[in-house]
Order: sequence, then C-alpha cells, then structure tokens
Amino acid sequence: MEFFKIFLLLLFSTYLLILSSILIRRFVGKRTTVEPTEEDDEDVCSEASNQIPIIEVINVKKSFDHPVLKGVYLSVDCGQTVGILGKSGTGKSVLLKLIAGFLKPDSGMILFEGREITRMREAKLLELRKRVSYVFQGGAFFDFLNVRENIAYPLRERGITDENWIRDRVDYLLDAVELEGMGGLMYDELSVGAKKQVAIARSIAIDPDVILYDEPTTGVDPIIGKSLSRLIRKLGRQERLTSVVVTHDLKCLEIVSDKLVLLKDGFIHFQGSVEQFNGSEDPFVEAFRTGSRYDESLASAAPGLATS
Ligand SMILES: Nc1ncnc2c1ncn2[C@@H]1O[C@H](COP(=O)(O)OP(=O)(O)O)[C@@H](O)[C@H]1O
Ligand SMILES: [Mg+2]
Repeated sequence: MEFFKIFLLLLFSTYLLILSSILIRRFVGKRTTVEPTEEDDEDVCSEASNQIPIIEVINVKKSFDHPVLKGVYLSVDCGQTVGILGKSGTGKSVLLKLIAGFLKPDSGMILFEGREITRMREAKLLELRKRVSYVFQGGAFFDFLNVRENIAYPLRERGITDENWIRDRVDYLLDAVELEGMGGLMYDELSVGAKKQVAIARSIAIDPDVILYDEPTTGVDPIIGKSLSRLIRKLGRQERLTSVVVTHDLKCLEIVSDKLVLLKDGFIHFQGSVEQFNGSEDPFVEAFRTGSRYDESLASAAPGLATS
C-alpha cells in the first residue's frame, strides 16, 4: 500500500513537472530576449495570412493644390519587388509615402496584410513602421556618427543594448551591403553610392518585412546605379523582403522588378513584367522606354490601364 502511494506521488510530480515546463516554454521562453533571434527570421511569406497581397492600394486619390493621384490600384505580393516608374512630379513619392502611412489618402484604401492602414491608430501605425522600412531619397545620415554607428542607430533606438549583438549585426549588415571594412568612415569620406549603401543597411538593420525605396539610384553614375540595383535585388532575396522601388531609372527597374508599374496623369497607365513592358506597343510606354517625346494629341490609344 505504502509502495502504491509513493508510486502515485512520483507519477503526480512528474506530471506537474512536464506541465510547468510546457507552460514556461509557451509563455516565457520566446520573450526572454530583446534582440531578434533566428526564430524572427522565419519566412513571413510562407505564412497562411500572407497568401493575400501584403500591400493593396485600392482606388486611392490624393490632391495637394492640384490632383496628384486620381484613382490608383496596386497590389504587391509577399516577397515580390514592384517597381514604380513615372516622370518627375507624377506622384511616385506621394504613393510611397501613402503606403508607408506617412500621408493619408483623400479617399480609397491602403491595406497591409488585409488591414486598412488608413484607419489604423498611431500605436498600430508604429507597429507597422517596425515591419516596413523606408529608404529616403536623401538617405538620412547623422554626419556626426561614423558608418558603423549610423547603422547601429535603429538598433539602439529599438532598445537593443547587447553591444556584442549590435557589433555582430552591424558586421553582418556591412557585409550584406558590400561595405566591409568601411565602418569607421565618416559621411564626408563616402562616395554618393556608398552613402546610399549605408542608408540601405540602416533600413534593413531592424529586419523589416517590407522595404520602400525612393529613387535609390538617383544622383549616381550608371555603373554605380547598376551595382546598387543588383544590391537591391540581392538583398530582396537574401533577406526575404517585399520591396517597392520608386524611380525614373528604367535600367534600375529592369534589374530589380518582378512587376513594373508606370504612373501617368494620376493613374496607373501600365502594369506587367519587364518583358511585357519592353514588348508593349502602347505609345506612352514606347516613349518612356525609348526616352522620346510623347505627344498626347498624336496618341490614338484611349488613356487608361494598358496591361499588355
Ligand atoms: N507635402 C506636399 N505638399 C504639397 N504638394 C506636394 C507635397 N508632396 C508632393 N506634392 C506635390 O505632388 C506632386 C507629386 O510629387 P511627388 O510624388 O514628389 O513626385 P515624383 O513622382 O517626382 O516623386 C508634385 O506636384 C508635388 O509638388
Ligand atoms: Mg519623388
């Protein structure tokens, strides 16, 4: 009888031990570290929730002193790189800022993973901004900090304090953007292209899911432009990013884009693959492609969505 009691006691304490270890692992285990771990590196695009487009722009209109976007529809699939082309002043940066939540549309909807960001409160928008990185045209850079500290800045801002972890992450990022050994340089010592590389490293530092580039190759010569474009392509794959690249540089978009979108007069005039763009006989697409003048009065095709 005594033996049976001891056996039951042992059985019960084993059960308690297993139960508590499951509970600890479930509720505490994943939250003990502040720093991103390997687990954070899961491929978001394979999750069921991401079978819908990660970004959807639905009939978005935006005016300032004049109408800029007059009804834009755009969808970006998870893991895709979408290039947005258009002449200067057509509203490419405005569209990017709307997607980032920096601007609000006058009407229409912008959805992130199916949720409308136009209705998100500030706290939710902050959460979104942790997942969506924006590479500004000028590539905001603190000129009193060296390259290494500039790249580390968003990590510190996020509350990461483990110096060893920060050092390893910055080393990884310097390597990823092909700036190995340049961490000690100051802003003035960098070429225009290298400054853009630092801006890219900074924007991927916190491991975002989406990256929005505004004119990543503007102001550099065509050779550097090409290598920056290749870098954007490489990082998209390596870091499993969804990217939106806004530019008037067709060469850049030919390298980076899975889908190419051409804005004209407040609407999306064309969207399709680079091959479709290059094969399109739409007069405006042809003019844009060849860099020739486009005469609206000579264009016979009705304006609208030319998705060839
Ligand atoms: N914050 C703003 N206030 C007033 N007008 C703006 C603002 N942002 C953009 N615009 C206007 O919207 C139009 C499109 O600008 P933008 O998106 O920057 O063009 P781009 O295609 O060259 O990036 C321009 O006419 C610009 O002057
Ligand atoms: Mg712009």
